[in-house]
Amino acid sequence: MKILRIGAMPFVFLSLAGLSLRAQPPPPLQREVLAHTPPMGWNSWNKFACTVSEDLIKSVADAMATNGMKDAGYQYVVMDDCWQVSRDENGNIVADPQRFPSGIKALADYVHSKGLKFGLYSDAGMETCEGRPGSQGHEYQDALQYAKWEVDYLKYDWCNTGKRNAEEAYSTMSKALLSTGWPIVFSICEWGTAKPWLWGRGIGNLWRTTGDISDKWSSRQKWPDGSCCEYGVVDILDQQVGLESFAGPGHWNDPDMLEVGNGGMTVSEYRAHFSLWALLAAPLMAGNDVRSMKAEIKEILTNREVIAVNQDKLGRQGYRANKQGDREVWVKPLSDGGRAVILLNRGTTETTVGVTWEQLDYPGHLAARIRDLWTHQDLGSATEGFSATVASHSVVMVTIEP
Ligand code: GLA
Repeated sequence: MKILRIGAMPFVFLSLAGLSLRAQPPPPLQREVLAHTPPMGWNSWNKFACTVSEDLIKSVADAMATNGMKDAGYQYVVMDDCWQVSRDENGNIVADPQRFPSGIKALADYVHSKGLKFGLYSDAGMETCEGRPGSQGHEYQDALQYAKWEVDYLKYDWCNTGKRNAEEAYSTMSKALLSTGWPIVFSICEWGTAKPWLWGRGIGNLWRTTGDISDKWSSRQKWPDGSCCEYGVVDILDQQVGLESFAGPGHWNDPDMLEVGNGGMTVSEYRAHFSLWALLAAPLMAGNDVRSMKAEIKEILTNREVIAVNQDKLGRQGYRANKQGDREVWVKPLSDGGRAVILLNRGTTETTVGVTWEQLDYPGHLAARIRDLWTHQDLGSATEGFSATVASHSVVMVTIEP
């Protein structure tokens, strides 16, 4: 008798809870349920700039679905600037009819049919960086349009914003997107000027921390109008120091998209670029022509051991644990208690770079296993520390597991 009553109680409780849940409207969408790990995908800008079209996006989706990228975790196919040409008499955004004869909804459907997600670009100002219509004053209208098109990701730029307050501008669009009820990852592209890491959490899922990346190892070049700057990989890297505490699940620092495979760096520089971005828990947005990659480039972009570090569920961003001239040690704590470690040689000659257990917050006597994530080999176990020979402009990337 007693047993029966105990069994019946949860049933009654559950049915009542079920009834009351059905009577309620669905809970409002929260920003941070999206992008629980750093978003992975592809973006058109670094390689194709303004030459976007439905044929390009479809062929990229075809390639990603079959060349191992989707299987490795790349999800979002994001079309950057220049897809839009005007607004119609009702203020609705209009896609270039020559380049998108089937319309944006059909394109999103196509990308979805390949098991991938679809992303778009707009701008918080009156015009985008390439002079196309921006979303200022049309935020709710555009958000509704994106939701109708089933857009899964919005990159939102900062050109032509005049004296607009960045936090206000991005929070307006964030609220507009959430109000549609359709889940859209929101990528703040404010270039770090207004320190978005201080206010971006809860507004965006990721925020750019710097000016644009360029396909170079080291460079700092002003824009034609004299404003600062386009940066090489290590120049962007330096600007990530100290930002690690602002990143976590649903809210990531974005050191800009990948240049891997675009031709301006050596294969080992690209390997270093990819390793560092993975360790920084950066969004991994490929920016090359993924339809015609050389084998060594595909091997970099689809290295599952390195991607696993990036996607680790603890969601900690890696940080610089030591710097001695051109020799640096970068560390990312992992959910299993291990560490991903990068030994970086920024210099022009080969050198030895080492990490001590103390730098990893491990006691020196602890025996820990070391695995090389690029040669895919176990290197045995060690106490006190580990060092390796690192070629110029290269990394050795390992996991160290107690
Ligand atoms: C800015 C952004 C880039 C790209 C271009 C497009 O420079 O930072 O990533 O989106 O605009 O015009």
